[in-house]
Amino acid sequence: MRNYLYSLLIDDVTYLCYWNSLDFFPPHAKILDVGIGNGIMIEKFHDIIREKDLKITGIDINRSYLTHCSGLIREWGLEKNIEIFHAPVEHFQPPEDGYYDFILFSMSFMLFRDQGIVLDRTRTWIKPGGRILFFQTMFRTRSILLELIKPKLKYFTTIDFGRVTYERDFFALLKEKDLQIVEDRLIRKEWFKGEYRLFITTSVNGRDSTGENLLMSREKPREKTPTESVNLRSKQERNRSSFTHSDCHS
Ligand SMILES: C[S@@+](CC[C@H](N)C(=O)[O-])C[C@H]1O[C@@H](n2cnc3c(N)ncnc32)[C@H](O)[C@@H]1O
Repeated sequence: MRNYLYSLLIDDVTYLCYWNSLDFFPPHAKILDVGIGNGIMIEKFHDIIREKDLKITGIDINRSYLTHCSGLIREWGLEKNIEIFHAPVEHFQPPEDGYYDFILFSMSFMLFRDQGIVLDRTRTWIKPGGRILFFQTMFRTRSILLELIKPKLKYFTTIDFGRVTYERDFFALLKEKDLQIVEDRLIRKEWFKGEYRLFITTSVNGRDSTGENLLMSREKPREKTPTESVNLRSKQERNRSSFTHSDCHS
């Protein structure tokens, strides 16, 4: 039921977020997906994840979502590309500092009690030249009605939509943490004058300490040849038929 409601209410936004983010990531990038949720994006984007050979670490606090995500990883044979952990971002420990090329907050940033602490912890996990991606609904002007409604939605849907995020507060937080916006994409306008936006920021101290810029080395995935497409399809068939279920990482 939880996953059904989630898919019903979040599916479209999820698609927009991952479609934009996965297109942005260069091949072989290491990504930390904070709040990966139930992984429904895998159903649509398994090809691009495999083609680009992305290495995604997904963390989440919801076991039920992670179990669903774990099933999709096996169903699409993405065990080499996606690993998941049951851990809050406030406690998660990466293998080392400077480990990831990108950190993605897809509709999760507005859920954290102390966003400043989350930024302090996570930005040191990124390599020099890496980026943080925030995909979220933003508001330019205050809506008291929405501030009242949003927290209550959890009781009807079981989904936590977090607090209302105002552009002014978000920008002030980024400034305080020395994170500079390198891209601000309006993805779609929403109800109550909300806007789905993707923000891409620098990581440590607002600068790329080595001068290396991952954005410069972005490549578009090349077209597959007909033979590669056939091979990919038959590999997927094999993976799907050898799917077995076990619990998600913890
Ligand atoms: C709205 S969902 C978005 C899921 C997915 N990224 C997407 O775009 O469809 C937010 C996710 O963040 C997770 N989350 C909330 N607080 C978290 C925390 N402190 N650490 C890690 N994940 C968290 C929730 O359990 C939920 O799965």
